[in-house]
Amino acid sequence: MSSEFLFFFFFFSPHSSPLHTLELLLGFLLLTTVFGLWLTPGGLAWAISRAKARTRTAIPGPSGLPLLGLAPTFAGPLAHRTLAALSNTFNATPLMAFSVGSTRFVVSSSPRTAREILGSPAFADRPAKESARELLFHRAMGFAPCGDYWRSLRRVSALHLFSPRRLAGLEGLRREIGLEMMEKISGENGEVEVRGVLHFGALKNVMMSVFGKWGDAMELEGLVREGYEVLGMFNWSDHFPGLGWMDLQGVRRRSRDLGERVGVFVGKIVEENRMIKRDDHNQCFLDVLLDLEENRLDDSDMIALLWEMVFRGTDTVAILLEWILARMILHPDIQTKAQHEIDTVIGANATAITDPDLAKLPYLQAIVKETLRMHPPGPLLSWARLAIHDTRVGQHFVPAGTTAMVNMWAITHDEKVWTEPTRFRPERFVEEDVAITGSDLRLAPFGSGRRVCPGKAMGLATVHLWLAQLLRTFRWSASSNYGVDLSECLKLSMEMKHPLVCKAIPRKKNND
Ligand code: HEM
Repeated sequence: MSSEFLFFFFFFSPHSSPLHTLELLLGFLLLTTVFGLWLTPGGLAWAISRAKARTRTAIPGPSGLPLLGLAPTFAGPLAHRTLAALSNTFNATPLMAFSVGSTRFVVSSSPRTAREILGSPAFADRPAKESARELLFHRAMGFAPCGDYWRSLRRVSALHLFSPRRLAGLEGLRREIGLEMMEKISGENGEVEVRGVLHFGALKNVMMSVFGKWGDAMELEGLVREGYEVLGMFNWSDHFPGLGWMDLQGVRRRSRDLGERVGVFVGKIVEENRMIKRDDHNQCFLDVLLDLEENRLDDSDMIALLWEMVFRGTDTVAILLEWILARMILHPDIQTKAQHEIDTVIGANATAITDPDLAKLPYLQAIVKETLRMHPPGPLLSWARLAIHDTRVGQHFVPAGTTAMVNMWAITHDEKVWTEPTRFRPERFVEEDVAITGSDLRLAPFGSGRRVCPGKAMGLATVHLWLAQLLRTFRWSASSNYGVDLSECLKLSMEMKHPLVCKAIPRKKNND
């Protein structure tokens, strides 16, 4: 039934009283307005803000469902794929607009606009979700607004946690933890679910680098797992403020409870560290923070900063290694080539693998890059950016308060950007040296611009070393009961939907 027909039917109906007609007319106008707004490119949240941007060209994009917009997409496990498909359908790879409830979004799926967004001071903030605020993460580096406080956090961690000198100092720790993992895998005698082992190793690595100690491992594992769950959840009240008071999914209750438990756990470590005086060489990041003369952090800020590092630095590394091993099993020829490189350059039975050795393994590094291209741990670059003021992307106007995302997965799977994008071929990175740390937006798994990942060198150093140890020690093949299933599940990071179970067959005996 067309809207004109409905209008005439209700308005001129012989049975209606004037009051009834007025009510119907108002109802009709309301319905038309809502539908009219909803049908604008990008959906309802964009329509509401259009008053401000009326004179500018609308950014193309789907309306999504009435009121909900694309909320169901984000509640599902494959948002990156759905957004990539929609950007193509709407011919909007440079920039697409959409709504999730009352939140306005833009997403870039092209290197050019990705560079504009990530490099622009206008997008230097991040939208803090309710769970992050409850965990006090707005005082941690990842969510703090781009101001003096955030700058001082970046400076102090660049100097005392992520500097080349500090990374070199942590080399022995990385290697020891790598060896522990090899032992654990050997002890499994046959088939192994690698995720648990890798996650445990990555967690210990960050804990030791940041806190200088491990604490109660069981309790810590529980806290981290709970944190991933609440932070990775799509929380409807972030986008439908009217629902906030009900806390339907229990996100606020769970985050508050977790925040308290984390406070007690980390607070205890902070107190213990206060008592110990370590010399400069043996100081962990926490000791440095406790000794700061300028820009001293209070305890709750310190806990937020340190805890965020644990979150950010653990699952990204473990998940990336799990994807790499899955690829090694699916491509035995590539695995053989990498093992041959390690045996030739370092030696199959050599002693410890060192960081300088890793620099001589271009094929191994190419495997890491190719896995980051095909399975980026943050396909939507983890946590988004927020427009601080009205700005432009290309010729499009983007109002203040818009959430901006880069779909790195769409870029790395675009055949206009990469030849044979769905083929796993590390050789492409031997033929062409592509920087992956943010200067080339064709592959920027660590983001780019002023909020680029500060832990990228630490993450890469860890992944390179552990991969070299894993490949030198074992031959990897499929489990007899489970194949390799590459299905994805986007939570806080993009995980394998089904944890990888595989056979790790010891190669030659070595003393590494
Ligand atoms: C394979 C490993 C890793 C990947 C793929 C990764 C990826 C990312 C990405 C995509 C961002 C957002 C960048 C942007 O908005 O432009 C980010 C931010 C961040 N990452 Fe990483 N990361 C990794 C390892 C680490 C490690 C080991 C740490 C610390 C121990 C860390 C700490 C952080 C922090 C604190 C931020 C927020 C920075 C800010 O907003 O100023 N990351 N990471």
